[in-house]
Amino acid sequence: MSHAHGLATPVTSRPGKALKGRLRVPGDKSISHRSMIFGLLSIGETRVEGLLEGDDVLRTAEACRALGATITREGPGSWRIVGVGIGGLTEPAGVLDFGNAGTGSRLMMGVAGSHPITTTFDGDASLRKRPMRRILDPLVKMGVTVVSEAEGGRVPLTLRGPRETIPITYETPAASAQIKSAILLAGLNSPGQTTVIEREATRDHTERMLRHFGAKVDVKPHGEDGRAITLQGQPELRGSTVVVPTDPSSAAFPLVAALITPGSDIILEGVMMNPLRTGLITTLLEMGADIERLNEREEGGETVADLRVRTSRLKGVTVPAARAPAMIDEYPVLAVAASFAEGTTRMQGLHELRVKESDRLAAVAAGLAEAGVQHEIVGDDLIVQGGNGKVRGGGKPVATHLDHRIAMSFLVMGLAAQEPMTVDDGAMIATSFPTFIPLMRELGATIQD
Ligand code: S3P
Repeated sequence: MSHAHGLATPVTSRPGKALKGRLRVPGDKSISHRSMIFGLLSIGETRVEGLLEGDDVLRTAEACRALGATITREGPGSWRIVGVGIGGLTEPAGVLDFGNAGTGSRLMMGVAGSHPITTTFDGDASLRKRPMRRILDPLVKMGVTVVSEAEGGRVPLTLRGPRETIPITYETPAASAQIKSAILLAGLNSPGQTTVIEREATRDHTERMLRHFGAKVDVKPHGEDGRAITLQGQPELRGSTVVVPTDPSSAAFPLVAALITPGSDIILEGVMMNPLRTGLITTLLEMGADIERLNEREEGGETVADLRVRTSRLKGVTVPAARAPAMIDEYPVLAVAASFAEGTTRMQGLHELRVKESDRLAAVAAGLAEAGVQHEIVGDDLIVQGGNGKVRGGGKPVATHLDHRIAMSFLVMGLAAQEPMTVDDGAMIATSFPTFIPLMRELGATIQD
């Protein structure tokens, strides 16, 4: 990839034709990471269909290999994993390099850190800036030793696990499925009950997959919007089949592109409709978007639907902070939709956006400024003044800061703005949606690198 040579790949999108046709976006990133991890921790064979073969997931697969799993790719999206079982991990020979992947690295800290082995985690310049203290704090309570860490609790860091972790009850300090999952995965190698309390429910793919592979998990409501999740430690996980549904966070880009590009009418096939992931659709419907849910069905233990999306006149809305966990990765592209709306959109409570692959609040604001969109950050809220169907676009190339979602969001904007939009580097798109550019071109989009 270009970053290996220190070269960025600028990409430009241009206003042009209406978007038409059908497309199926790749498999869900969250579920793909977890399918590898559960394969590693199970006894016997796990088969995965529809795996997202993006760089982030491939890094997790490499890490699982280094910890003892046998992993083979049998065809496009079709993978076989023979696991070593809980307690059976082997010490990796070298550093586990997670590249850009926050989810992979954090979940694997729970997995490897809960075993009596020494493991070193590292990643790219973006991952090296991201806070890991939120994972290390509960792991230390569970008996894990942080042998070394970069300043401020960041990677590169080295963990040494106990023979068995100590079961804990832990309330997460932020609404984060990554923190929850790291603790539950560490709790697998613990002799008792591990409980995670979250004040706001976050994506529940770990809980669903724990059950699917044979663990006992009890989920109770906690307070108004939260949950208490209790895992019985040291289950025997059995290898299983995982059918990965498509990623709603990737579907978000063609979806918003169709809403803002005049004359568009597309169908997104088989989009996962897990209610803890559909905050963007809820918000866009409130804004007046023409999105039809067709052919709802079950696939791989999740509800999926085909979405028919047609160009719409959007109105500004207020997006409550309580909705953030269900659309945490979708704010950059929502900000793009809001730029084309009539009136003001206020997105409340975005503090977690500051610690994503980039400081997404700052990166979105800088991109909006380049495109001539009026906006303001007040506290943790982002306020966007819509141009009522018109956005100037143009400006200098948008700085993506190694962030795939910043790159895709502003390329979507360029399809409907008056002037083309350029992002300084499209290389990171491969972490989550490697086929983004060809699939968008099939719909009629003009995107060039
Ligand atoms: C993810 C959780 C979210 C999300 C990330 C994937 C997961 O992060 O932003 O892209 O798979 O658990 P946080 O848990 O840090 O909010």
